Amino acid sequence: MTGRRAGARETILVLDCGSQLSQLIARRVRELNVYSELLPCDTPLQRIEAAEPRGLILSGGWDSVDSPGAPRVDPGIFALGVPVLGICYGMQLMAHMLQGRVVRAPEREFGPSDLEVLGSPSLFRGTPARQRVWMSHGDEILEPPPGFTVVARSTHSRCASMADDARRRYGVLFHPEVAHTAHGLAILDNFLRPICGCAGTWRMDSFIGEATAAIRERAGSGHVIAGLSGGVDSSVMALLIARAIPPSQLTCLFIDNGLLREREADEVIAAFARVYRLGVRRVDARARFLAALAGVTDPEEKRRAVGRAFVEVFEREARAIGPVEFLAQGTLYPDLIESTSFRGPSAVIKTHHNVGGLPETMKLKLIEPLRELFKDEVRRLGRELGLDEALVTRHPFPGPGLAVRLLGEVTEERLAILRQADDLFIRELKDTPGASGGSLYDETAQAFAVLLPVKTVGVMGDGRTYENVLALRAVTTDDFMTADWARLPHDFLARVSARIVNTVRGVNRVVYDVSSKPPSTIEWE
Ligand code: XMP
Repeated sequence: MTGRRAGARETILVLDCGSQLSQLIARRVRELNVYSELLPCDTPLQRIEAAEPRGLILSGGWDSVDSPGAPRVDPGIFALGVPVLGICYGMQLMAHMLQGRVVRAPEREFGPSDLEVLGSPSLFRGTPARQRVWMSHGDEILEPPPGFTVVARSTHSRCASMADDARRRYGVLFHPEVAHTAHGLAILDNFLRPICGCAGTWRMDSFIGEATAAIRERAGSGHVIAGLSGGVDSSVMALLIARAIPPSQLTCLFIDNGLLREREADEVIAAFARVYRLGVRRVDARARFLAALAGVTDPEEKRRAVGRAFVEVFEREARAIGPVEFLAQGTLYPDLIESTSFRGPSAVIKTHHNVGGLPETMKLKLIEPLRELFKDEVRRLGRELGLDEALVTRHPFPGPGLAVRLLGEVTEERLAILRQADDLFIRELKDTPGASGGSLYDETAQAFAVLLPVKTVGVMGDGRTYENVLALRAVTTDDFMTADWARLPHDFLARVSARIVNTVRGVNRVVYDVSSKPPSTIEWE
């Protein structure tokens, strides 16, 4: 968002060279109480300068620095006089751009590696001379650029870290941002405090003050329209906006697309009334969405159909409100990397319909106050804003809703089956204690039912049945970029399965999905 930062706070910019870990770097920096934002690596120098960063971090990436089209940064960043830390590809890029020599390593290094720190370099202050780090690279630095010295080596890399203290430029070949690097946080902290001179006073509640001030400044006296989906992101976004501008300037729209979970619409609207006494305009568009989805079976086509219907309904409602200048969206950074393609591996995986689309057709300016945050940070923010715990801890739900959890054609009848089975599963998860003291629901990051387009033979009473198969999916994950299937207890699965086949008409078989992401995705479509 514009107008927020301008020197008002310590900011570290992470320039994303295409690694899926880039976002994690920004988040670790925030954990160390320094505000951090992620920008694509080819962000123009002017934009970088305007943020007045205290330091820059060049992230990892999957490419080799000399391959055509490999991610690049503006060389002008090295003349800004701010400290630069290159991580993995970021280090190789820095070495390459500053006249060092980067070559293909004879042996690639993936996973844990032993690091030997040479002397007492500033970046490793307070950490042991030998430490466990996590590597993921195929290239290495044969010769660091002029002015740099090698400050650490590892099992397979002669130059696992390099430093030029005079110009405050540093490189590490390993990933300090991942938990497997034993002293990663301490290394990042050394970069932030002594090297960049950050005081580290940023907190989530500072975010509320800064974000609301920025929203107020951007919105001016213009009218803001916010789409509420029922998920935690859009709920938190709307509460933040409601805190920033007067109610007369804000319209929250809840579009009931008929693809929601059981009781979803009622719960969200009630929570809003409770927390901020904020009226939400509920639009019943169930028939419109069902019509748009009639006969559609391809997953991406479903997303597009839902997206188009959404735009249409939203536009119609916006017109009815009167002149609207801004559209508020609860987009998070991970939504952006999965939907747009900065570079490298972040190619489009799925079209997330809440990104893009509306602004071009409606000529609305965007307000996206959460675009730098992670899901768990959004949850913390939600708590600070007083959002109901049930909504704060609610598992994420995709924009196209049950349409992508119902494989094959979306019909009212199939939606009813899925909704009922999903609700039973979720209730059981909430009612069953897990190993950590919380419920099984709390111990899983996302859980849901999927209605398959397959019928199987069953037996009920004396008769043969030929009915639907329902899959249960539950995953554990921190960032939704990778995930593992949740090891739910067998007794629990047995109970849920029995309840579903006995209660939900139209289902005679229940299966449990034991696939991780990758190679599968969390959703089935
Ligand atoms: P996948 O299935 O790609 O999901 O592993 C990762 C996370 O993204 C959610 N998801 C979506 N969210 N629109 C959304 O707003 C979508 O089209 C969409 N597809 C997947 C998914 O629920 C999971 O949390």
